[in-house]
Amino acid sequence: MFERIREDVASIRAKDPAARNTLDVLTNYQGLHALWLHRLAHTIWLEGFKWVARSISTFSRWLTGVEIHPGATIGRRCFIDHGMGVVIGETAEIGDDVTIYQGVTLGSLILKRGKRHPTLGNGVIVGAGAKVLGSLTVGDNARVGSNAVVTEVVPESATVVGIPGRIVRKYVVDEAPRQTMAGTMNFDAHAVISDRLDSTAQATASMLDHLQAMERRIESLCLILRDKGIDFDEANLPTSNDENVDSASAKQKCAEPVAEAP
Ligand SMILES: CC(C)(COP(=O)(O)OP(=O)(O)OC[C@H]1O[C@@H](n2cnc3c(N)ncnc32)[C@H](O)[C@@H]1OP(=O)(O)O)[C@@H](O)C(=O)NCCC(=O)NCCS
Repeated sequence: MFERIREDVASIRAKDPAARNTLDVLTNYQGLHALWLHRLAHTIWLEGFKWVARSISTFSRWLTGVEIHPGATIGRRCFIDHGMGVVIGETAEIGDDVTIYQGVTLGSLILKRGKRHPTLGNGVIVGAGAKVLGSLTVGDNARVGSNAVVTEVVPESATVVGIPGRIVRKYVVDEAPRQTMAGTMNFDAHAVISDRLDSTAQATASMLDHLQAMERRIESLCLILRDKGIDFDEANLPTSNDENVDSASAKQKCAEPVAEAP
């Protein structure tokens, strides 16, 4: 249980620049409280104590403004930001690492029992006020724009906006190298990678790609110098995660004489 709480907190701290510290997250994130109460309600629901489970869900709604039916299935590290007005129906299924903003409804279009609510894949983002209705699937890493109304299947990595929801974009990007480079440079990976919401962030992502290509070229050059036995004082070269690199020390290092090639 503590393991799950730890990863909930870590996920919020990684995704929300407003999250200042663990205490802040534990006490002031109603979406997190709703998630914990839902876990309890869901377990009790599966044990067959439906009224008790519904009552916990009602208490949670009163406390947090988030209404999650105890029958809904929610994966790990789900982040319900701000919380107020979120409604998640009984047969909704939510994958891992999903982000849901305030005012989102995962609802039904029919009044019959059975699967009638959406299934969200891993890494999906549902913007504020969006309504995702019916037994449809939103593919992994898809984004639903704020205030969109979605009633049809959304493919993996697509962005859907408007009413009715229309697909405006489909990403097929390997984020792993960018994550590595962003980490090396102490970048805020949230703004640059996980929530790429505007063209500035996309330009930054391209810069990270470019920097990584340059780093690979420099490493190849070092390899060639090493092969040829040229001493270029490698141990003293600044690295990209060297905290003490500043332009003065970098200049000094560049000015140091390099040994002649044999
Ligand atoms: C949809 C969203 C995820 C952006 O995804 P993206 O794949 O990066 O898409 P872009 O920003 O490149 O936008 C693509 C197009 O959709 C339009 N668009 C983006 N979001 C839209 C929205 N919510 N409603 C209508 N159109 C939208 C853009 O204007 C753009 O149109 P264009 O191609 O004619 O210029 C983002 O706009 C969004 O809505 N995020 C939710 C954020 C949120 O709810 N925050 C709440 C914080 S409290």
